[in-house]
Amino acid sequence: MIECAHGDYRIREIGLTLPELAPVAELHHEVLPSRVYATADKKAGFAEEIRASLEGRDGLVLGAFTPDGRLAAYKLGYRTGNRRECFYSWIGGVHPFHRRKGLYRALTHLQHRWALQQDFKYVETHTWGDNAAMLILNLQEGFIAIGAISSPDRAGTRIILRKPL
Ligand SMILES: CC(C)(COP(=O)(O)OP(=O)(O)OC[C@H]1O[C@@H](n2cnc3c(N)ncnc32)[C@H](O)[C@@H]1OP(=O)(O)O)[C@@H](O)C(=O)NCCC(=O)NCCS
Repeated sequence: MIECAHGDYRIREIGLTLPELAPVAELHHEVLPSRVYATADKKAGFAEEIRASLEGRDGLVLGAFTPDGRLAAYKLGYRTGNRRECFYSWIGGVHPFHRRKGLYRALTHLQHRWALQQDFKYVETHTWGDNAAMLILNLQEGFIAIGAISSPDRAGTRIILRKPL
């Protein structure tokens, strides 16, 4: 079980039950501008989507909590079905009040160390080409761009990034 401190924050693993995942779904809708206006039903549905995506797939959900127990940052991913050696880092973010304190970098380091211990060979993630903060951080952390996917329902391109462990 991962558990450590980052300044005043506590970082720990989050379980795959709906009550534990509800704050993750809530925060996910606060960090992404496109999701801020989602309904309560939509947010609750997303907690179930996370649970279903990770269950039985060697998933890892990490959260960073404030001293009063509020979720400030999250990062999660799972083993891909067709490439067993690949850990797919799916989503993550930091509440705007808690950014530029090294929280996401800390979650990234913990995730990669855990993935290495589980014998994954590399981590992959997809980042939109206009998401400068996430691209910069991922490049600093050793990812390289290996491809791109254009989306039919949104302008722009998702960059496929891979980091050997
Ligand atoms: C990207 C994001 C996760 C970074 O979180 P964070 O905790 O603030 O990041 P860190 O403090 O660990 O930053 C590490 C480094 O990344 C780079 N970085 C982070 N935010 C940056 C920004 N807005 N612009 C440029 N570089 C940035 C910097 O080099 C930073 O180091 P520094 O603060 O010493 O200069 C956060 O901005 C966020 O939640 N964005 C919205 C969520 C999102 O886009 N998720 C992806 C889709 S799921």
